[in-house]
Amino acid sequence: MNLHEGEKRPLPSHVAIIMDGNGRWAKKRGLPRIMGHHAGVGAVERTVRAARDAGIKTLSLYAFSSENWKRPEREVFGLMGLFRLIIRSKVDQLLREGARIRFAGKIDGLPSDVQEIIRNAEERTAGQTGLQLVICLNYGGRQEILDAVDKVVESGETTPLDEKTFRKYLYLPDVPDPDLIIRTSGEMRLSNFWLWEGAYSEFYFTEKLWPDFGPEDLETALNVYQGRERRYGSV
Ligand code: IPE
Ligand code: IPE
Ligand code: MG
Repeated sequence: MNLHEGEKRPLPSHVAIIMDGNGRWAKKRGLPRIMGHHAGVGAVERTVRAARDAGIKTLSLYAFSSENWKRPEREVFGLMGLFRLIIRSKVDQLLREGARIRFAGKIDGLPSDVQEIIRNAEERTAGQTGLQLVICLNYGGRQEILDAVDKVVESGETTPLDEKTFRKYLYLPDVPDPDLIIRTSGEMRLSNFWLWEGAYSEFYFTEKLWPDFGPEDLETALNVYQGRERRYGSV
């Protein structure tokens, strides 16, 4: 779609966020890294609310990558504890707000009680039609593609495959591709996020560290997005 001067595109329907900079936020304050992750939860709450108020249909948040296991055991342990606590305690609120929560990643690679909490949260919110919140946990884009290949082989699907058929084997096939990917903390890389799905995503980078991210930053990102022209290889 070509844009004329002053014209704005519609809002993105799927916004994806690489929530980065928790460790640096803590370091600046002389605190242990895990305190940065705790502070990051506040930013998650603000952003979920702001996305819903803005009318965003799907918000996906990169919470733990398949490479984050390389971190010190103490930090990984602290993060798993945080996921347990937050997911369990937020389900009632999501139910009240009509939101649905889903998870993308290698769920069977997580501690078994975390898997149980995830299943419970997904099942309880499954019928809801408000904001769709996708948490990418133990997620890696390359792993997702490999997992899909395994499922394709098992399915006996006839080859050559087309993209539409392959997509059915991704973690969340019915979730539309992210229109906008936001990354905080000044880093400008994908770090294995939505590799297949992000093929034509728009990017927005901000220097803000994740715990400092708020509704006004989301609004700026949405405005920037609405001024972009997406061409998908066309003219
Ligand atoms: C992002 O913040 C959160 C996770 C990866 C879990 P970081 O922990 O990567 O923070 P920095 O990049 O070290 O500042
Ligand atoms: C990406 O951040 C993963 C998440 C935000 C969960 P990282 O901090 O792990 O990425 P790198 O190591 O800087 O690429
Ligand atoms: Mg980081």
